[in-house]
Amino acid sequence: MIEYRNLKIALLGAGSVGSRVAALLLEHGDELASRVGAGLELVGIAVRDVEAERDVTLPKELFTTDAESLILSADIVIELMGGIEPARSYILKSLNSGADVVTGNKALLALHGTELFEAAEQVGAQLFYEAAAGGAIPIIRPLRDSLAGDRVQRILGIVNGTTNFILDRMDVDGDTLEDALATATALGYAEADPTADIEGFDAAQKAAILARLAFHSAVPVEAVSREGITGVTAAQVERARRSGYVVKLLAICERVVDPVTGEEGIAARVHPALVSRLHPLAAVHGAKNAVFVEAEAAGDLMFYGAGAGGLETASAVLGDLVSAARRHVAGGPGVAESLTAHLPVLDIGKVQTRYQITLEVVDATGVLATIAGIFSDHGVSVETLEQSAAPAARPETVQPTAFGAAGHGATGADHITATLVIVTHRASEKSLAATVGSLAANPAVSSVTSVMRVEGA
Ligand code: NDP
Ligand code: HSE
Repeated sequence: MIEYRNLKIALLGAGSVGSRVAALLLEHGDELASRVGAGLELVGIAVRDVEAERDVTLPKELFTTDAESLILSADIVIELMGGIEPARSYILKSLNSGADVVTGNKALLALHGTELFEAAEQVGAQLFYEAAAGGAIPIIRPLRDSLAGDRVQRILGIVNGTTNFILDRMDVDGDTLEDALATATALGYAEADPTADIEGFDAAQKAAILARLAFHSAVPVEAVSREGITGVTAAQVERARRSGYVVKLLAICERVVDPVTGEEGIAARVHPALVSRLHPLAAVHGAKNAVFVEAEAAGDLMFYGAGAGGLETASAVLGDLVSAARRHVAGGPGVAESLTAHLPVLDIGKVQTRYQITLEVVDATGVLATIAGIFSDHGVSVETLEQSAAPAARPETVQPTAFGAAGHGATGADHITATLVIVTHRASEKSLAATVGSLAANPAVSSVTSVMRVEGA
């Protein structure tokens, strides 16, 4: 029997993820010790209420409300409390006392990552965070280590399980957004306040974390352009299906070159988008997540799996714990975050993509030419155009789009109208917004019913 020295592990939080981490660590401690070359002794679990019922049975004597004392006794601190404070202060305190830290706290990293990584570097400690984006999916290590010798061009991610579940239910079962959200909440996928999911805040936090790693540059979460799924209608989902697309909430981080200055930068955005049913991301169903990476040398890579769930996320946390423990055994300073590229985060107006625009227009001679002229005036090239007779009673709610005005106001009752579905070639967001503005203001256009970006083609 090999005698290992013990590393002391402090756990902050025993909720969905923390309780599973504690249980797995207690159950598989010997096996992990042999992988690390040191024992991993769970010395305490800090919570708010030591008497609260837990998802799994854990030894009562491990629980404490005194997180500060627990931190000072540990070699490695695992933070799974969530939120900004006191998590931020506890992590800083842990690093400053020489402990490595493992966290899954995406909200904290997206907001205060730079401060925390600098604190770790100053004392030669390391902050591990595989669980902070994509739950159980190994994506942080591949971006930080495996792809460190390549140049990532673009990341397309389905990084929020709740919204993927909702959009999938709307597509496959014809559920309403409200019913699908209620099911996602009952299944435990949604955040305590589901606004974080459906308005894209959670995905934006993950986008900031992934972009920082992929492009070796600081990406503040406020610089991530964000649009949630609350404006997605049943009609859009249905139209997408008929055109061979599926609606997904995507987090997109990419290198962008400013067409005017030639400056290279990064753009990061979260919004619903049409994805071809032939693209691998279209096959990501339910609450699953996937991150599609386009790299210069490696080509296309896809990482797929459970983006949430206590047990699944615990796997990523324990992987980080093993890495941190191995580092302690080997000695030496932690590996600092690479922020050497200093790429600026550019405005979403500089991004180029394809768009599907749905219009109701007056069905009269010359209208198509007028519409084509508006696209042409703004330098936006039309790839496909389909015309059909507009429904007698308009069933679709006209949503204000992210591109501005929703319509001119003429109604189907006043004219014979037709529905036009136009897909553009790649154009800048700025040109598209100007095109939509001109369309909405033109008397031939009754309404701009929908504007969706088309991604991954
Ligand atoms: P929970 O809300 O289920 O659990 C939080 C735990 O932290 C509880 O045990 C709570 O104690 C404890 N806690 C909260 N505030 C304090 C405090 N001030 N002092 C001491 N203890 C405190 O969170 P999750 O387990 O779901 O998530 C943990 C982290 O992992 C979050 O950052 C989350 O974003 C991240 N994450 C979660 C995923 C998931 O699927 N759940 C997926 C990926 C990441 P008590 O029980 O006594 O109230
Ligand atoms: N609410 C989040 C989601 C949990 O639905 O993806 C995992 O981060």
